Amino acid sequence: MLHQTGKAMIIGKPFLTSRQIQNKVKELANRISDDYEGKDIIAIGILKGAFMFFSDLVKLIQVPMDIDFIVASSYVKTQSAGEMEIHADLREDIRGRHVLLIEDIVDTGITLNFINKLLLERSPASLKICTLLDKRSCRQIDTDLDYVGYQIPDHYVVGYGLDYENKFRNLPYIAVFKEENIK
Ligand code: IMP
Ligand code: MG
Repeated sequence: MLHQTGKAMIIGKPFLTSRQIQNKVKELANRISDDYEGKDIIAIGILKGAFMFFSDLVKLIQVPMDIDFIVASSYVKTQSAGEMEIHADLREDIRGRHVLLIEDIVDTGITLNFINKLLLERSPASLKICTLLDKRSCRQIDTDLDYVGYQIPDHYVVGYGLDYENKFRNLPYIAVFKEENIK
């Protein structure tokens, strides 16, 4: 795909195929369903990135749940901006509830740390974190992750909800993204 700035945006072959992702989603949903047996939860998706993972995952979790979303961002292009912005907060009160926070990818940990702290101040009964992808080698702030789909190396990836400048979120698979100057 050609970019306005004279750079080509290159999407490699699937790094994680749709089938691999769906198998992992099932595995995570089974673990979550077992761990929360007999409890009601509130599943909170961090938008926009987690929208696809969130909707596939909640379909397979077998405990009663409410859902809600928080819209946050910390990224400018492929660089962590290091500053967090909450664009839209939760609509539900989470006091005394079992919160399952669902994220697409944890990189520096800044986003999750910020949201984790924000939600803990509201006194939930418990708070666990589920992320599809974990770039552990990039971590700047340590954050405990309860459910991790895949640990991946330090590649910038797109698809299955993940974007580059808001593009490629609709790909059903995850691929490595590169940008090259056009000669
Ligand atoms: P962190 O705050 O550095 O942990 O970054 C987390 C957020 O940055 C995620 O919620 C994603 O939206 C975005 N992000 C981090 N790495 C990638 C990537 O490889 N592709 C697309 N978005 C990413
Ligand atoms: Mg995200």
